[in-house]
Amino acid sequence: MPGGEGTVAAERPALIGDVAGVRSAAEGWRCAGERVGLVPTMGALHAGHLSLIERCRQECDRTLVSIFVNPLQFGPGEDYERYPRRLEDDLALLRAERVDAAFVPSVEAMYPAGATTRVRVGEIGEVLEGEHRPGHFEGVATVVLKLFNAVRPHRAYFGQKDAQQAALVQRLARDLDTGVEVVVCPTVREPDGLALSSRNAYLEEGERIAARCLVEALRAANRRYLEGERDPERLREAMLAVLRAEPLARVDYAEVVDERTFRSPGRLAVLAVRIGQTRLIDNHRLGQPLP
Ligand code: PAJ
Repeated sequence: MPGGEGTVAAERPALIGDVAGVRSAAEGWRCAGERVGLVPTMGALHAGHLSLIERCRQECDRTLVSIFVNPLQFGPGEDYERYPRRLEDDLALLRAERVDAAFVPSVEAMYPAGATTRVRVGEIGEVLEGEHRPGHFEGVATVVLKLFNAVRPHRAYFGQKDAQQAALVQRLARDLDTGVEVVVCPTVREPDGLALSSRNAYLEEGERIAARCLVEALRAANRRYLEGERDPERLREAMLAVLRAEPLARVDYAEVVDERTFRSPGRLAVLAVRIGQTRLIDNHRLGQPLP
């Protein structure tokens, strides 16, 4: 009889391409009394994504990972076309993580012709990333609500790396009575401190070295904070001094903001920086250790 370890592993995860399919898989688990966890991603999976998946596996009976490069959250002239797509590698990683199902819809499956409804989250989506990427958070909120509605998970996992997105999803989950518990997981970093991101793949050798300036700027603000500095403008200057010293870096913003409203003052240092053609973001809660 087939069914050794290898066979079982090879069968996992179930690959689901349409909304009806993912709805019925998740409903089956829920009806059997199992706790369903959802990890939404755009693929090109790395250790940051895997940390979310591992947390989900620890806390839920079933783990469902979505892989969908969501056109709605990319602005004109952004990297939608060249965003890395590596489905085979991603599925191999999900198999190794023993994920139960991968939801990998086409654009047509997610947005059938005539689907015009959009979700707008309000104030939190209007500053920083929202200001620099018009329409971005509307696209994120719309796709996340669609995933919540299709899967109806008990819990959904997001990364602190995208702090404003995580806060916005928590807001959305509460405001729209989704019943989903949103879990925010710590940022996973490279040994030199660079936050893992699918977009790091765009960086050429010299750019990869230059990209360290993001975490170095956060470290500089953190040092000043630990020395007792609380003036948001001075903390911001500490970040800008590091970023301006890097010739390949162009700063979109560097601020110290409140963790809920994303407006100054506060103790969350947030920044968005272009290294060549690649736009990277990072953040750190000042006063906490930063490796
Ligand atoms: P994506 O960039 O693929 O990220 C998927 C999830 O992984 C997000 O919750 C993100 O915060 C988390 N993540 C990314 N890098 C991380 C890191 N270094 N450490 C910890 N977590 C990390 O974010 C999106 O996709 C999309 O906007 C999505 C939520 C899927 C909606 O389309």
